[in-house]
Amino acid sequence: MLPVPTPDALAHSQRVSAHLRSLIEDVGGWLPFSRFMKAALYAPGLGYYAAGAMKFGAAGDFVTAPEMTPLFGRTLAHATAPVLAQTGGDVLELGAGSGQLAADLLGELEQLRALPVRYCILEVSADLRERQQATIARALPHLAERVHWLDALPEQVNGVILGNEVLDALPVELVHWTDAGPLARGVVLEGNAFAWEDRPIADPVLRARAEALDLAPGYLSEINLAADALIASLAHALDRGLILMIDYGFAAAEYYHPQRHMGTLRAHYRHHALDDPFYLPGLCDLTAHVDFSAVARAGLDAGLELAGYTSQASFLLNSGLPELLMQTPPSDAAAYLPQANAVQRLVSPAEMGELFKVIGLSKGGVAPLTGFARGDRRHSL
Ligand SMILES: C[S@@+](CC[C@H](N)C(=O)[O-])C[C@H]1O[C@@H](n2cnc3c(N)ncnc32)[C@H](O)[C@@H]1O
Repeated sequence: MLPVPTPDALAHSQRVSAHLRSLIEDVGGWLPFSRFMKAALYAPGLGYYAAGAMKFGAAGDFVTAPEMTPLFGRTLAHATAPVLAQTGGDVLELGAGSGQLAADLLGELEQLRALPVRYCILEVSADLRERQQATIARALPHLAERVHWLDALPEQVNGVILGNEVLDALPVELVHWTDAGPLARGVVLEGNAFAWEDRPIADPVLRARAEALDLAPGYLSEINLAADALIASLAHALDRGLILMIDYGFAAAEYYHPQRHMGTLRAHYRHHALDDPFYLPGLCDLTAHVDFSAVARAGLDAGLELAGYTSQASFLLNSGLPELLMQTPPSDAAAYLPQANAVQRLVSPAEMGELFKVIGLSKGGVAPLTGFARGDRRHSL
């Protein structure tokens, strides 16, 4: 049974739906799904990420790793400190959510005497930017002047670019493979309700990608052109350093596996995963898994090197998560047990350890990361 939204939340969702309907009408009745998803998530003042919904944590819709334990961000500090030492550069975090990862990472870099000159955050949601500012002011007031919020990607970045669960939040194209070849799946109106309609693919880039996948008629899945574009622009901006992306997903062979013929697009509402992306627009997060083969290819095409690809479990274990956990004595059960439980969720193959992956893309010759020292799976991409 799904939790019932409050009257205010329902009224908000109705405003988001009206906005989506007007977008469909403005383009003549058929809206590519990526544009529907982009508006449902990011339309200013309306979209899920742009209108003050709780989102993260127990009272929200989903829980991300930084919300579970500070050990996640602290481990990433150990993983990235050597790159910062080599480049003398900055950290640029994309999509910083509540700001918790920034606070934990920066706090640990301070302990390691490896503080970046600047910790920059690029966040598309004005609402989340405010939340991040409050988190930093509360957790690290003495480091607050090092943290900068950017409106656009800087022309040049030296250091580490980082994103946790950002690629899965980018708007995806939906493609339906049929006997007549791949078709773009878009959104139309049936009365006031949203409905699907497939059309020939107009965008030559999307058509080429869909044809190359050559999936059986009836197969429905996503292609994330926005992720390719983001990786290409990050590659362009990166002068020397590392791009580290953490997210749930697979290599292409697994992503487009015959058994996954209904794709990976999901709506998340109050800790329930739903198949219907039209459910309560504005109140649900919409996400798709990440095709890490496409991410790697976008990086290589843009001149980056593949620094590594592995499971979240391998990356965190290689980067010192167990040692950080052991800094809390197990005899102090009240402090130790919640952290040990969170670590278990981060690394257990039955939870986040295997579904989540870490990909590293580098430029300018940075030394190999210990995070990829054991269990690197780049051959699978
Ligand atoms: C699922 S949340 C993850 C938040 C946070 N990183 C965490 O782990 O809790 C996705 C985040 O990506 C942001 N985002 C989406 N598209 C983005 C883009 N093109 N550039 C930067 N951030 C983006 C969203 O506003 C949101 O903060």
